[in-house]
Amino acid sequence: MCGIVAYKGDKDASKVIRDGLKTLEYRGYDSWGIATTDDSVIDVIKNIGKVSETYDSNLKISNNGSNKGIGHTRWATHGGVTKENAHPHLSQNGKIAVVHNGIIENFQEQRTFLKKQNFSFLSDTDTETIPNTIEYHMGRGYDFVEAAKRSFEHMDGQYAVVALNHDGKIVAIRREAPLVLGIGLNNEIFIASDVTAFLEHTKNVIFLEENDMVIVDGSFEIFNLYENCVVERPISRIDWDNEAAKKGDFDHFFMKEILEQADVINRIANIEQSIITDTVFDIKAAKGVYIVACGTAAYACMSGLYLFSKLAKMHINFCVASEFEHFKHFLTEDSLIIAISQSGETADTLSAIRAAKSKGSKVISITNMVGSSIMRESDKSILQKAGPEICVLSTKSYTSQLAIIALIVYEMDGHFDEGIASLRELSRYIYYLTSKNSRDFIKSLSEKLKDVEHIYLLGRNLQYPTALEAALKIKEVSYIHAEAYAGGELKHGNIALISEGTPCIIFTSDQTEKAILSNAMEVKARGAFVIGLGPKDNEIFDFFIKVRDAGDLNPIVQIIPMQILAYQLALLRNCDPDKPRNLAKSVTVK
Ligand code: G6P
Repeated sequence: MCGIVAYKGDKDASKVIRDGLKTLEYRGYDSWGIATTDDSVIDVIKNIGKVSETYDSNLKISNNGSNKGIGHTRWATHGGVTKENAHPHLSQNGKIAVVHNGIIENFQEQRTFLKKQNFSFLSDTDTETIPNTIEYHMGRGYDFVEAAKRSFEHMDGQYAVVALNHDGKIVAIRREAPLVLGIGLNNEIFIASDVTAFLEHTKNVIFLEENDMVIVDGSFEIFNLYENCVVERPISRIDWDNEAAKKGDFDHFFMKEILEQADVINRIANIEQSIITDTVFDIKAAKGVYIVACGTAAYACMSGLYLFSKLAKMHINFCVASEFEHFKHFLTEDSLIIAISQSGETADTLSAIRAAKSKGSKVISITNMVGSSIMRESDKSILQKAGPEICVLSTKSYTSQLAIIALIVYEMDGHFDEGIASLRELSRYIYYLTSKNSRDFIKSLSEKLKDVEHIYLLGRNLQYPTALEAALKIKEVSYIHAEAYAGGELKHGNIALISEGTPCIIFTSDQTEKAILSNAMEVKARGAFVIGLGPKDNEIFDFFIKVRDAGDLNPIVQIIPMQILAYQLALLRNCDPDKPRNLAKSVTVK
């Protein structure tokens, strides 16, 4: 949560930072702020809302087009959404500005200490203790860099911090929260929560290690606080196209990313077989496999359970990552944990990985972000190759996760080539599913549903996790209450919620048709408005979305009309499809 951008170079820092913050808004967007310096005085501007909506391009925020600065887009943790609580926060003397992502666990202690030293505070945040602690140490004779080092040494928690001194020096630290360094032309330096913030300026990146402190003064140096020495970190090259993180002609990233799914699935069909074979080797060698993730990625895991059972004839255990540590007692050195995370930074998934590591278990991750914490803390990783996903809602990364899981299972079943062929075929079909005609058809359904209070979704077998993910998509972005059940569970209480006109979406498949149609009849008998989604229409359905039966790959195709439905509902209900209220894409706090 929260996005950080810092810049030092020859361009107007406020503009570079503002543009970087816009791409990081998926990390949080309740308020934003930028601080720049002309090497003497720090200027700060802050505002409530999204930087993309409130930033006035005529607003003068820097002295003489300053080329050094830091910026922040916030997802509130400590302190409400107010201008005072927005970052950057200044030290009491106004000479140090700080932006911060994460949580300073001992901030209350520090605040009490600083108050005793006559420091006063303007905000309710934990962040404001940081510039004041640095000022406190500077008051005791240390220079800015040394004072920052001393401050970081006494700050507990998981965080990434960037501090700007009025003389233009910048220091940053990564401690269990994402922070990357971009190296541009002519000594340009970028520091950001992720690479998309500076992709249009440079693709040369340094992924910082834990406790790396970056010192920018003219050029840059990395000092590791644990090793207590200057360290060299390799420069990696990001192979993402810088246009990929832009909206282009689309109104929203949500729709752009839905439409990219055909290409993403095709890209996965070109994956090197050895990557999958290697994973299968580890799975077969393990005594107990656990698959963990959060949110949408967790529903990809759930689909995986069905596939492992049916095709690989193997039981694997699934747990949402936030609960996993309560099951770690079962783990041994022979256990294998498969962790799935688009961002590679989700705190709960990272904790699950650390819990597994503490028991000596092996970890394989599936992630979209090269160099991410999850990738680095895993023994092995498979990259999703979905390209940057900017919309808070996960679409193409979900289907890419499903495709990778399917390939692992096909390989276990000895049918890798058939799996690849099926994905290629599916990729062509996804072009059709996302075509304008298909989208317009779904729009006609969204017009019928736009004012309802509840939507219920039912599925069996692989269609059950799909129903869960579809419900999540609908509620995340349209704020309509949507709830999914396994078809068989309907009669165990949930049917009490069905009354005249209640919309129920029924996910069917060739395999589950008979059983799920009886559930459809049960809700129909109680007056439900029944929407069928699957290969065959039926007279019970009041509305039918035809999606060809893709067998074991049904989750990939069946979710697409639901993503489109969620998008259309958001538009009709005046909700922001890219930035739903209260949500953040990368949840780096527990
Ligand atoms: C957040 C996002 C979800 C996402 C989940 C897990 O809650 O809003 O869309 O599915 O985090 O994210 P990850 O990056 O670990 O896949």
